[in-house]
Amino acid sequence: MPNKKPTLLLIHGFPLDRTLWDEQVHGLSDVAHVVAPDLCGFGNDTSTVRDVITMDDFAKDLKVLLDIAGVKKVVLCGLSMGGYIALAFLQHWPDRVQGLILANTKANADDAKARAGREHTARDAHEKGMELLARATVPKVLSAASRKRDPQLQVRISAMIARQHPAAVAAASLGMAQRPDRTGMLPTIEVPTLVITGSDDALMPLPTSQALVGSIPGARLAILPGAGHLTNVEAPAAFNTLLKEFLLAVASH
Ligand code: MLT
Repeated sequence: MPNKKPTLLLIHGFPLDRTLWDEQVHGLSDVAHVVAPDLCGFGNDTSTVRDVITMDDFAKDLKVLLDIAGVKKVVLCGLSMGGYIALAFLQHWPDRVQGLILANTKANADDAKARAGREHTARDAHEKGMELLARATVPKVLSAASRKRDPQLQVRISAMIARQHPAAVAAASLGMAQRPDRTGMLPTIEVPTLVITGSDDALMPLPTSQALVGSIPGARLAILPGAGHLTNVEAPAAFNTLLKEFLLAVASH
């Protein structure tokens, strides 16, 4: 009997959109049904945006999406803010999850300084616009090596950030500030878990991912050399190979 293809739900980071996952949508469709939605207010999503969108709000939207599509179980893959959302989803609906991939993310809450930074970002999005935020963000999310090797990637990520709606960006930023500490749930995670990071991730340095792996039973850590915060676009072939192996293992369970 051939294994049934799992559904892979890809959850993008901040302040990005579904096109972050283009390489995965194209590269993984032979091993999974790949779903890569725009989160509320991002990309082509035209939902009305509240002042604050929490990680739980985003997770609920994704659950509704799966319900409408009749999808019972998924492998969740969240990058950075997408990882915060994946953990929220798993906490609320563990029965719907058959595998977890956490890329360039963490489980702890913001401290006071980080929360103040979120308010700053929300204000800047409204008052100064997304071009400025794009210029400030690209050097933080792509490693120096990636920027040197692939100037086109810089252009792509910069354009992706610049086209996001300030209202959605502000609401998600304030929502991240409100997210609870989810480190307590990590030892209770029962699904196969893969943690991915880049050796040069300036926003989530290696100890952050090591802490995740150390707390989740049986989790595996993969470090992509030379990649920064956006591992899936900085090292797409290696990222896809990791996901393929993981998805095939989940499918054969
Ligand atoms: C992201 O890439 O989603 C953000 O860096 C997450 C964050 O700001 O905490």
